[in-house]
Amino acid sequence: MTNQLWSSERRLTAIGRNGLSVPARQAVTDQQITPARSVLDYGCGRGGDVRSLRQMQIEAAGWDPVFQPDDQLNPADVVLLTYVLNVIEEPVERRETLARAWSLARAVLVVSARLTWERNKVSGSVFADGVLTSRNTFQHLFGTGELRDFVQGVTNVRCVAAAPGVVYAFKHDQARLAFLARRVLPHVEWLTSSDTTSAISSVVEHTERRGRPPRLEEMPHAMVELLGHLRASDLQRLIRRSADPDRVAAGARRSTLDTLLFLAVELFNGRGPFGSLPLSSQLDVRAFFSSYSEACRRADRLLLKLRDDAYVRGAMQASKVGKVTPTALYVHRRAVDNMPTVLRLYEHCAAIAAGRPADWTLAKLRHQGRAVSWLHYPEFDSDPHPRLSASYSVDLKTLETSFSSYDDSPNRPLLHRKHEFLMPADPDAPKYRRLTKAEVEAGLYDRPHLIGTEAGWEAELKRCERSLRGHRLIRRTEA
Ligand SMILES: C[S@@+](CC[C@H](N)C(=O)[O-])C[C@H]1O[C@@H](n2cnc3c(N)ncnc32)[C@H](O)[C@@H]1O
Repeated sequence: MTNQLWSSERRLTAIGRNGLSVPARQAVTDQQITPARSVLDYGCGRGGDVRSLRQMQIEAAGWDPVFQPDDQLNPADVVLLTYVLNVIEEPVERRETLARAWSLARAVLVVSARLTWERNKVSGSVFADGVLTSRNTFQHLFGTGELRDFVQGVTNVRCVAAAPGVVYAFKHDQARLAFLARRVLPHVEWLTSSDTTSAISSVVEHTERRGRPPRLEEMPHAMVELLGHLRASDLQRLIRRSADPDRVAAGARRSTLDTLLFLAVELFNGRGPFGSLPLSSQLDVRAFFSSYSEACRRADRLLLKLRDDAYVRGAMQASKVGKVTPTALYVHRRAVDNMPTVLRLYEHCAAIAAGRPADWTLAKLRHQGRAVSWLHYPEFDSDPHPRLSASYSVDLKTLETSFSSYDDSPNRPLLHRKHEFLMPADPDAPKYRRLTKAEVEAGLYDRPHLIGTEAGWEAELKRCERSLRGHRLIRRTEA
């Protein structure tokens, strides 16, 4: 490939970066990029990501046909292909570039591209399957589903959307399943221990939470050192003696549902053989089901239930968390893991198909059709009536996605009755409940059709002669 073949000014598309790009940051957060792994940034532009990764003590190299054409191109554990595909005008070359990047990846390829909903940020004329800007740069904006299908088609492996416009393709299926498990299953915390006694307490606590004793291979290294001298049967006896059976039973019920959720997500994304599941999930299947096929059958039924409108609506109505409206269930990020399992599955399937954005506050699950939106209210905790900043939605039937920013809107939608989105036991819920009660008593919710946006709400506050001081409603004193 040479420069002469290119008709657009690709070098102008590369920007200078001060910190990590969104896709590289995502890969770090998802533990795909770690100090133990080498990284190649293929099409690295001005090399901002390579510099930032090296500052993090990560072995990183870059290559770019314009900026670093003479650098050596060696395979790496992680290959980044960041916003490269969309600047290539020629579909055949897009495919070749992706195939080349894939051939250089030993563990995972992280592909990112600009998405169709950024169209209003790219001005220019239609050219081939994209836009040619006045600076003679080209942008093919991808649909979320198109990007995933394209990467799957070229790599021939099942891919996962890590975030909007960021797709992971794993070289080994175990790594994909480990990634899914980390996404879906609750993070395992161990109490810190400094001696054998506290290490045993930590194992007991873990047993109660998970519903089964852990295997040595699942424990942090420091704990293995503290417990390594005990015989397995002695450790089991100590656990049996100290663990509260009711808590263990409750832990087992939770873990059974979590395992079903994971297996259903796995079916949605592509099921592997039992041996390719992460060790902890294999142990959960053995502990909580009569066999892997029984677990899979139940998980398959769960996934099927997602198609059943009446079942999904029933689960929303029965949900102990979230607010059900005539169209959807709205749940706060802190409460989503407490939704019924079928609804957790609903949200996870959307996230894996289209990518869940990094910043979001409420998940909105529609009960007619299958669509999930992640809504961002940056001031949810401090603003008594938080204003909507952005919304990212995916339709699960078509995999079409859309994004709306409300930051420049003069009349943003806002929230009321914040406690309804949270767990009843959330520490902030009582404060929000008190405010709602005061607002109801003041007549502020008498005209619900008016209060959904800033202007209407402000007018109602005026009409009722009230204003807000923090989460307190006070009488209005006109200046
Ligand atoms: C939008 S820039 C992105 C640069 C960098 N990855 C980043 O995110 O900062 C696109 C880059 O793709 C490079 N590029 C264009 N065609 C390429 C190809 N066929 N193979 C590899 N890189 C290519 C360009 O030289 C340019 O630096």
